[in-house]
Amino acid sequence: MNSFPTQSALDPAGQGAESIAQLFYWMSGGAALIWCLVIGLAVYAIRRPQAHHYRLTRLLVIGGGAVVPTVVLTCLLSYGLSMMPELQRPAPEGSLTVHVHGVRWWWRVEYLGPSGQPIATANEIRLPVDQPIEFKLFSEDVIHSFWIPSLGGKVDMIPGRTTRLKLHPTRVGQFRGVCAEYCGGAHAQMNFDVVVSDAATFERWLADQSAPASEPETDLAVAGKAVFSQRGCGACHAIRGTAADGLVGPDLTHLGSRLRLGASLLDNTRQNLRRWITQTHQVKPKVEMPAFEALPEDELTALVAYLEQLK
Ligand code: CUA
Repeated sequence: MNSFPTQSALDPAGQGAESIAQLFYWMSGGAALIWCLVIGLAVYAIRRPQAHHYRLTRLLVIGGGAVVPTVVLTCLLSYGLSMMPELQRPAPEGSLTVHVHGVRWWWRVEYLGPSGQPIATANEIRLPVDQPIEFKLFSEDVIHSFWIPSLGGKVDMIPGRTTRLKLHPTRVGQFRGVCAEYCGGAHAQMNFDVVVSDAATFERWLADQSAPASEPETDLAVAGKAVFSQRGCGACHAIRGTAADGLVGPDLTHLGSRLRLGASLLDNTRQNLRRWITQTHQVKPKVEMPAFEALPEDELTALVAYLEQLK
């Protein structure tokens, strides 16, 4: 049903993920080497019980038991540690900075617009390729962990603290991000989409996002805007340029431009938007948003028409 993008630490599309994949392959190689040695010695000992005791003991201690594993593991540890300074170095001054807040069970994403004004979006992160990006990570409730396996390592989001992560995408594409720390009921549905594009496409997107919501043009969408207001949606959701300024739930200013709904749960289609509004808890159990099951059909149609034109 859903065509989810790549979520693999072994298909790297960023510098951090490349280091992690390399380390994984070297670690696997080292582990395989030690395993072969230990099993080889065990088989040798079983098949040659008459082998001289002293010779066998020497083989076990020098070979499989101590020296080789110590050398192999020390080499792997040094190799892993040698990667740390680069992974931990912050992005250079003036790099694009993105703030991401973990909220049960979605992601508040904030950029600075072309003229320095903050722009909020949700559950979707767009990035330019081939440049370092500094993430500042926050939590608004419990510990979450921010992870885009294709781009780099994961970093916890801790209430009351700011944590940091530098990512450097090296390939354009769509990738999947996840919450990697159990954070309650809908943890498994706390995902997000990442779109890496060339710098010009990214700048265009950022400029579009910084604009306030467009005024609805069709009668249906105008009616939907009234439903949004009358049903109190604006108490939780903000739509810049309108009276809706709620901060509890995701900002919906450009909802229509997003790939997916419900923290990367459903493709952003009209049918799924209807499902999300009316069957919220069947789609995503434990979600904080109340379901509007009893919304009359004409109001639902109008509301969906309004939301989907927020591009
Ligand atoms: Cu947030 Cu798990």
